[in-house]
Amino acid sequence: MSQSSVRPISTAFTQLLGCDYPIIGAPMFLVSNAELVSAVSSAGGIGAAPSLNWRTSAEFREQIRKIKRMTNRPFGINLIVNQANPRVAQDLEVCVEERVPLVITSLGNPKETIKRMHAVGGKVFCDVTNLAYAKKVEDLGADGVVAVASGAGGHAGPISPLVLIPYLKKHLKIPVVAAGGITTGDQVAAAIALGASAVQIGTRFIATHESAVDQAYKNAILNAEPEDIVMTKKISGTPAAVIRTPYIEKQGLELNPVEAFLFKHPQTKKYMKMIRAYLGSKALEKAVAGPTWKEVWSAGQGVGLIDKIMPAADVVAELVEDYYKTCEQLPR
Ligand SMILES: Cc1cc2nc3c(=O)[nH]c(=O)nc-3n(C[C@H](O)[C@H](O)[C@H](O)COP(=O)(O)O)c2cc1C
Repeated sequence: MSQSSVRPISTAFTQLLGCDYPIIGAPMFLVSNAELVSAVSSAGGIGAAPSLNWRTSAEFREQIRKIKRMTNRPFGINLIVNQANPRVAQDLEVCVEERVPLVITSLGNPKETIKRMHAVGGKVFCDVTNLAYAKKVEDLGADGVVAVASGAGGHAGPISPLVLIPYLKKHLKIPVVAAGGITTGDQVAAAIALGASAVQIGTRFIATHESAVDQAYKNAILNAEPEDIVMTKKISGTPAAVIRTPYIEKQGLELNPVEAFLFKHPQTKKYMKMIRAYLGSKALEKAVAGPTWKEVWSAGQGVGLIDKIMPAADVVAELVEDYYKTCEQLPR
C-alpha cells in the first residue's frame, strides 16, 4: 500500500496544517519517537510526540531536528502546560525556535503557548474533554480543539464521542479533532460525519514497527479486548486507561486514603501531583522497556479492533482506503 495510491481527504484541518490526511498520530508518553512521528507525517498525516519523551530540553531539540531530517512534512509536539511540568517554559522556547508546525497542549492554561507559537506561524490545538474548557481555549485564540472522548487511551474524557464531537462542533467556531477509540477507516468516516475536521489516533499506533515499546506491550495490544481496559488513578492521580494485568489488579485502581487526602489539600496538591507523576512515569518506563512482572500498559478501548503490528505508513494508508470504502458503501 502506498500513499500515492490514495487520494487526499481535504478538511479545515488539512488546509490549516498543509497535510494530505486529517489524521494525527497521537502524542504518546514513552511510545512516540522520531521514527514514528516522521513515518506518520511522511505518509500524509501528522505525527506527534510529547516533549517529555526526551530527558532534557536539549535532547528534545535534537530529536525535533532529527524529525526534520527524516521528513519535510508538518509534525506536532505535545506540551503539558500545567504546573506539574517543570520544563514547560524551556520546551515552549524550543518549539518556538524550531518553528514546530503544530503544538498540542494538554492540561493547564495554553495562553502563553498560543501567543508564542502564533508569533512564529505555528498552530495550537488543545486537548479538551468538555465544552467549558473548549470555550476557554477558543477565547484564548486556539486554532482548534482535540475532543478527547470516553474510550481513549491516556486521560480519557467522560463523554461519548457520538455526543462530544457534534456538541463541541455546535458550540465552537474552531475545528474539532476527534480522539478516543479510533482505530479503523470506518471510524474515521464516522468521526468526520459527526463534524470532526480530523482524528487523533493513539492506541492503534502502539502496534506499529516504529513505536518505541517492548514487543510484550505490542502483543498485549493485539490480545486485549475493550473489556480489559480499566481506569487507574495510580499513575498520575487522575484516572488513566490501562490494560488490566495481574499487576494492575494487585495494585488496585484507587489512591490510598492518605494520598487521596493530600491530593485534595490545597497546600499539598501540587507536590502530590508531581510525586505521583514521577512514580507513575517510572512504572510506565519499566513496563515499556522490557519484560517485567509490573505490567503497566497504557491503552484505550480501541485495542479490541487491533490485530496486526504494521509499519505506521501502512496504518495511515489503510485508514484512508477504508475511509473511502466506507463513504462509498453507506446506504442511500
Ligand atoms: C500510551 C499512551 C500515552 C499517551 N501519552 C500522552 C501524553 O503524553 N500526552 C497527551 O496529551 N496525551 C497522551 N495520550 C493520549 C493520546 O494523545 C490520544 O489523545 C489518545 O491516545 C487517543 O485515544 P486512542 O488511544 O483511543 O486512539 C496517550 C495515550 C496513550 C495510549
